[in-house]
Amino acid sequence: MTAQTVLVTGAGIGIGRATAIAFGRLGAHVLVTDVLAEEGEAVAAEIFAAGGRASFHLLDVTSTEEVEAVFAAAEAAHGVVDTVIANAGIARHVPVEQLTDALWNQTVDIDLGGVMRVFRRAVPGLRKRGAGSLVALSSIMGIAYGWDKHIHYSAAKAGVIGLVRGLAVELASQGIRVNGIAPGYIRTAQLLSEEHSLGAAGAEQAPAFIPMGRLGEPEDIADVVLFLASEAARYITGQVIVVDGGLLVGRY
Ligand SMILES: NC(=O)c1ccc[n+]([C@@H]2O[C@H](COP(=O)([O-])OP(=O)(O)OC[C@H]3O[C@@H](n4cnc5c(N)ncnc54)[C@H](O)[C@@H]3O)[C@@H](O)[C@H]2O)c1
Repeated sequence: MTAQTVLVTGAGIGIGRATAIAFGRLGAHVLVTDVLAEEGEAVAAEIFAAGGRASFHLLDVTSTEEVEAVFAAAEAAHGVVDTVIANAGIARHVPVEQLTDALWNQTVDIDLGGVMRVFRRAVPGLRKRGAGSLVALSSIMGIAYGWDKHIHYSAAKAGVIGLVRGLAVELASQGIRVNGIAPGYIRTAQLLSEEHSLGAAGAEQAPAFIPMGRLGEPEDIADVVLFLASEAARYITGQVIVVDGGLLVGRY
């Protein structure tokens, strides 16, 4: 199945932005969604300016009501949303003693609950169509590494893997595939945050221990999203693909 109407969450910057632009190039109608209105509008405008089709929709993935409203509007305008990329996520550096219930809940609600909400809303349309692809962003921190002072993030990203596996089996007979991507170190605002991740200095040192010798770029992930959503991946479901320049297999 070729993607025709694609919804990307957290598409204003970073990996989500690169993914939205990549789908725009393929000719799909891209529903660019984010809590960042200015950035999201700019991505939709960029796709449009390049000859593609896109619209921006304000969407906080913690809100079932907003998810409902965006899908309802998209379905009215374009028919079924056949491809959903659950990319929105936050990572906050907090030692366990300072991890409040509120911060735990917020991270899990965005990074894991946000995936569930958009996938859940997409399923009835996909069932009717008998085809579709759902792709979620996990992380190497959910698949293999332990990330100190980020246990809420690691737990949510590990949860995404379980969600992908379970939902893949639930929907496989309907022609709907569910997969994930576990990125390594990708050059985005999240990674470059001094407070919450590697920061600029850490990012400069990372290539020394990444076998391919460089950080990932958002486009390195976007291309794998495109692959997973495409007909080329027609027999793949329930998988989370590590895209990390050899980091996990090379660290010894
Ligand atoms: N950058 C990396 O190295 C890396 C590594 C592994 C996994 N990831 C994952 O990839 C995804 C994209 O990461 P990124 O590096 O591009 O991050 P980023 O911080 O650059 O972008 C995250 C996006 O999510 C949006 N977002 C945050 N809260 C939201 C909410 N409640 N509702 C809707 N949108 C919301 C932000 O506005 C932003 O557009 C995330 O899920 C992240 O955890 C990134």
